[in-house]
Parts: sequence; structure tokens; C-alpha cells
Amino acid sequence: AKHGQLANKKILITAGGTREALDPLRYISNRSSGKMGYALAQAAVEAGASVTLISTVELKVPFNVQLIQVTSSDDMMAAVSDHFQTADVFISAAAVSDFRPSQQQTQKIKKTGNEGLTLNLVQNPDILATVAATKKNQFVVGFAAETQDLLNYAKDKLVKKHADMIIANDVSQKGIGFNADDNQVTIIRPHERPQTLPVQSKLETARSIVTEIAKELADQLQN
Ligand code: C5P
Repeated sequence: AKHGQLANKKILITAGGTREALDPLRYISNRSSGKMGYALAQAAVEAGASVTLISTVELKVPFNVQLIQVTSSDDMMAAVSDHFQTADVFISAAAVSDFRPSQQQTQKIKKTGNEGLTLNLVQNPDILATVAATKKNQFVVGFAAETQDLLNYAKDKLVKKHADMIIANDVSQKGIGFNADDNQVTIIRPHERPQTLPVQSKLETARSIVTEIAKELADQLQN
């Protein structure tokens, strides 16, 4: 038998920014590096979990992690849907594009004289909210990256996304959050005071988050 805080648990994690194709050559995306998701995958493996990582980026895959490479939010939704039902924990660390081009051109979009180009975008489905609405015993963790009013937006997401925990970070602060190596997050749960972790590496942050998730799973068993 495996040892560790998350022994015999299946953890599903998403990481990175999705890419929404405009044509065969171009896409719309965001600045997410995927580092936090990969750090969580490593911390979960260290805790003895069996880990599936659904990722849009190519970073060094932690030992023993099952990687599923995806590109668009559509691909990510399909992969998450495939694995959610059998997971014990779902951590949605990906920066899913809120919008995608309403049409994906099959041929390269060409310049026409000096005219500009207007893109029509449609909203993407919320992967986290969609799968979490179907949860049975899964423990669901979402992220909230905000530039203002962090705690209120994060608490709102707890409810709207059917999440059991929201990891909130203020991306307006330099040196933490998006693309940085360090992070500082606040853990939001129902009926508990927000818990702010120290500024630390993403791996240390991930280990702290994994410990908090393991505690919640142990509490679930007792109740
Ligand atoms: O609504 P917002 O994008 O701020 O919420 C962030 C959280 O929701 C993250 O956990 C992200 O992975 C998830 N999300 C999602 N699908 C979307 C948008 C966000 O799963 N279309």
C-alpha cells in the first residue's frame, strides 16, 4: 500500500492557459505559465496520490504523473469530463480562456488592403462549474486570480462554481502569481476564515495546499 497524506487518492489537475484557434496559424491565449499546476502535480505525487495532469504547456513532467496534453478549452473540457467521475479530487489550476473566436477559419486569414479586422468572440463554458455541478464525493478546488476585491470575488466563486476550496491570489502584486516562481495565496473555504499562506515558491505553496486538501478529505471521512 502507498503511504502519504493522499495515499490511494486519484487527483485530477488542470494547468496552463488554453489556446483558442483563429485559423491554422494563430490563436488567442493568456500569460499563464502552468507552473502552479505542475507544482501541485508534484506535491500530490509526493503525498502518495495517483495524479492525472491535463495541461496546455510543456514543462518537465513530475515523476509518476500521467500527462494529457490539450490545446483548446474544448479539448480541456473533454479531457476533464473523461476523468472527473473517477477522481477523488479535482484541482482546476488552468487559466481557461473566457472567450474563443466564434468561428475557426480553416484557411489563413489574409490582409485585405488597409482594412482592420473585427473578431467575433463567444464565451467558453466554465469547465470547473460544469463538472463540479455533477460531483458526487469529489473534493473540488478552484483558483481565483484577481487584481482587486480578491476575497469577495473568491467567495463568490466558491458558490457559483460548486467548489469546496478556492485558492485566491492577487495578480496585481509583482513577483507572485502569473508566470512568477513564487506565489502567495489565500485559501477560502465555506464556514472558515480565509487563511493566507506566506510568500513562498510555487512548490512550497502547492505542498501547503495539498496538506489542506488532505485534512479536508480526512474530515469528510469522519463526518
Ligand atoms: O471565473 P474565473 O475564470 O475567474 O475562475 C477561475 C477558476 O475557474 C479557475 O479554477 C479556472 O480553472 C476555472 N475556469 C474554468 N473554465 C472557465 C473559466 C474558469 O474551469 N471557462
